Amino acid sequence: MSVRPVDVEDAGKVYRRLLGYARPHLGMFMIGVVGMLLFAATDSALAFLVQKFLAGAFVEPDPRIIWAIPLGAVGLFLLRGIGDYVSNYFPGWVGRQVIKSMRGELFAHYLRLPVRYYEQAATGDLLSRLTLNIERVAEATTNSVTVLIRDTLTIIGLIGMLFWYNWQLAAFVLLLAPPISFLIQFINRAFRRYSARIQASMGDVTRVAKEALDAQRVIKAFNAEQHEEAVFEAANERNRHSNMRLIAARALANPVVQLIAALGLAGVLFFSIRQVFTQEMRVDEFMAFLTALLLITAPLRRLVQVFGPLQEGIAAGASVFQVLDTPVEDEGGPLCIARARGAVEFRDVGFTYQAVQGAVLNGVSFVADPGQTVALVGRSGSGKSTLASLLPRFHDPDTGAVLLDGHDLREYRRADLRTQVSLVSQEVVLFDESIRRNIAFGLCEPDDPRVEAAARAAFVTEFADELPQGLDTPVGERGSLLSGGQRQRVSIARALLKDAPVLVLDEATSALDTESERRIQAALEALRRNRTTLVIAHRLSTIEAADRIVVLDQGRVVEVGTHAELLARGGLYAQLHRLQFAA
Ligand SMILES: Nc1ncnc2c1ncn2[C@@H]1O[C@H](COP(=O)(O)OP(=O)(O)OP(=O)(O)O)[C@@H](O)[C@H]1O
Ligand SMILES: [Mg+2]
Repeated sequence: MSVRPVDVEDAGKVYRRLLGYARPHLGMFMIGVVGMLLFAATDSALAFLVQKFLAGAFVEPDPRIIWAIPLGAVGLFLLRGIGDYVSNYFPGWVGRQVIKSMRGELFAHYLRLPVRYYEQAATGDLLSRLTLNIERVAEATTNSVTVLIRDTLTIIGLIGMLFWYNWQLAAFVLLLAPPISFLIQFINRAFRRYSARIQASMGDVTRVAKEALDAQRVIKAFNAEQHEEAVFEAANERNRHSNMRLIAARALANPVVQLIAALGLAGVLFFSIRQVFTQEMRVDEFMAFLTALLLITAPLRRLVQVFGPLQEGIAAGASVFQVLDTPVEDEGGPLCIARARGAVEFRDVGFTYQAVQGAVLNGVSFVADPGQTVALVGRSGSGKSTLASLLPRFHDPDTGAVLLDGHDLREYRRADLRTQVSLVSQEVVLFDESIRRNIAFGLCEPDDPRVEAAARAAFVTEFADELPQGLDTPVGERGSLLSGGQRQRVSIARALLKDAPVLVLDEATSALDTESERRIQAALEALRRNRTTLVIAHRLSTIEAADRIVVLDQGRVVEVGTHAELLARGGLYAQLHRLQFAA
């Protein structure tokens, strides 16, 4: 899914909110401002030094300037250096703090966004907001502000010098201010528009790249390199195109401003040279005036350029706030629960992912009493995993309710509820850490003896013992260094360690050989005694012993009963069973 550029019409509001992140560090920033003042003052002092030099050398020769002017120049540049350092270091420090706290906040927010959000967003885009966009925010909140303050101060100082030497000419120079500021505003709007587009296209680039890198084996297997290149090329080209628009606007901004400035300079030269001829202005004053005027051009150029990064920062800030303003999962209801008995009931549950697709679950009702094992079977796509995802409240039913110990799941505190449910999902997700840490994940310390016990019960030790580092062997990114069946065993061990009263096994043993599966089944058998287990399996041989088998078809319960009852009935279950048996 492509990202729509964030609407940044209300740039002022976004900007104030961004500055809010810098506010706690105002003190540090003000030190920087002192440096900026110092830096700005030395520019004006330079014009003054030029005037003193010319006056002492040519107008009224004064031998003291032989020492005073060189020493003054060194002193001036020393102060300027200090000002430069302070005005970069302290705002830079504030900028990194802003980045860090914003990034932390965004990451924490990501973790708490509802499952539904992730079904609609592209993770590549979310990553790009967390990495690239936030970097740009620092530009807006500190670097640009530094330039803005420092160069504005410099220009004010220099204009002050202009007035000091010749107020009429200075007033003439000020006439240029309105056209220049109008131009800056115009460029600004363009910058903002293009920045939002660039960032959206950057999100696309990251998204396509991430997808391709994740799927590199599939791409190889299908010789789909060229196809992926074409997809990437489209995103890459969009990014280049948006960037070129920005570069064009930025490249044009400078010469135009310089041209206006040059026109002003020509006018000033015209009048001032006449004043020099008519002795109204001394040559040293003229040179000082000219120096101040020329010194204005550098900060003016920086000032014009700063609006690019500033607008980029605002567009980036808007894209981050868009996520931060997305509501996170609520805390759930008021009911606290330490350990449930494990009575699960689905009462007339209906669920729809997207309206266009129609209902995925429709009037599903069945009961699992504490300690019972209920198996869910049905064709692929019949809604089994969806049903399982309702238990930890990844989704909530649209109609009806799921109950635990007689209470609607929504009545429980969400965190409490999730400790009651241990889910081994169809897609095993492992972290790039050791087997031990993957099992202990979020539950206990990795060196806890229970980790080893769980590893043994799930037959993880069986293959881990063969590995050079045993349980401390790293599993690679997403567990890629383990086989499919080994990954499943790690995730079963993790679920066993959690020791929750409700255990959901969604195709948990599908990747295991019959021998290992049978042994894990035996291990699970022992654990099932005091917990409610929901087993989803295509391999029907594994669920024959279930207390109850619920057969789903197209989101509806079509049959319920024990293995023997359902076989005798000769319905869908019997049909599926016959097909497997024949195979
Ligand atoms: N995140 C989602 N967004 C939209 N539709 C979805 C989503 N997840 C699943 N579906 C759809 O819901 C239906 C049921 O999917 P579900 O994963 O529950 O089936 P399943 O019974 O577990 O199938 P399998 O046996 O293949 O695992 C399918 O038609 C699927 O296309
Ligand atoms: Mg499934």
